[in-house]
Amino acid sequence: MLRIALILSLSLAVLAWGAVSPQPYRPSPTPSPNTPQYTSDGRLVFPTNYREWVYLSSGVDMNYNPAFQKMDHSMFDNVFVNPEAYKSFLQTGTWPDKTMLVLEVRMAADHGSINKQGHFQTGDVMGMEIHVKDESRFTPGKWAFFGFADDKPATSFAKDMPCYSCHEQHGAVDTTFTQFYPTLIEIARKKGTLSAAYLKEEAAGTKAQETGAAKKP
Ligand code: HEC
Repeated sequence: MLRIALILSLSLAVLAWGAVSPQPYRPSPTPSPNTPQYTSDGRLVFPTNYREWVYLSSGVDMNYNPAFQKMDHSMFDNVFVNPEAYKSFLQTGTWPDKTMLVLEVRMAADHGSINKQGHFQTGDVMGMEIHVKDESRFTPGKWAFFGFADDKPATSFAKDMPCYSCHEQHGAVDTTFTQFYPTLIEIARKKGTLSAAYLKEEAAGTKAQETGAAKKP
């Protein structure tokens, strides 16, 4: 009898506990995978869903070094941006806080399937670099560069790397190479967000073209 009473009161207690305490299922607010996430030691978590982002452009065999030897193979680079930043750019002509731009470098091939000429992209990813705007984290400058060998979190490139100086001196909008993103450059021009350095470079280029044309017979 005592045993039954004990079991009864125990099950009543369990029931009562169950009635009061089951928490409604509330998933912990998972951060959007489209915003930069860091490990506790400050490494950037690789945004594995970047291929669902907005595609900006591809370059083939782009090279910024005049002394560069021509490679024996071709490479493509594809640029993607998180959709929130893209939408904001359409309205403002510049990048908001928490922008992430991904540069994916892929090996090219020229003979495959029915292709006889020209290049196409292969599954061979040669490199992955990310340019992140995080105003409170990266001071001064607001932006940082990261390079990934695989999808493990990566540390940022040191500030004295040429990534920073080249992008700062030649990037058309807020240290990014928007002059090579054909659907965005005109928006930046309309919104008046092109950098002074870029406008100067552009004017010098136009002048050189004009004088070149004038020299022609
Ligand atoms: C000499 C100039 C130069 C240097 C140095 C340079 N870049 Fe860039 N970067 C470019 C150009 C030009 C583009 C545009 C590529 C395209 O249109 O496909 C670019 C684009 C990028 C992008 C795409 C987003 C953006 O900002 O436009 C990333 C990410 C990037 N570079 C990372 C790096 C990293 C990391 C380094 C250093 C390890 C680096 N870059 C060094 C010239 C440079």
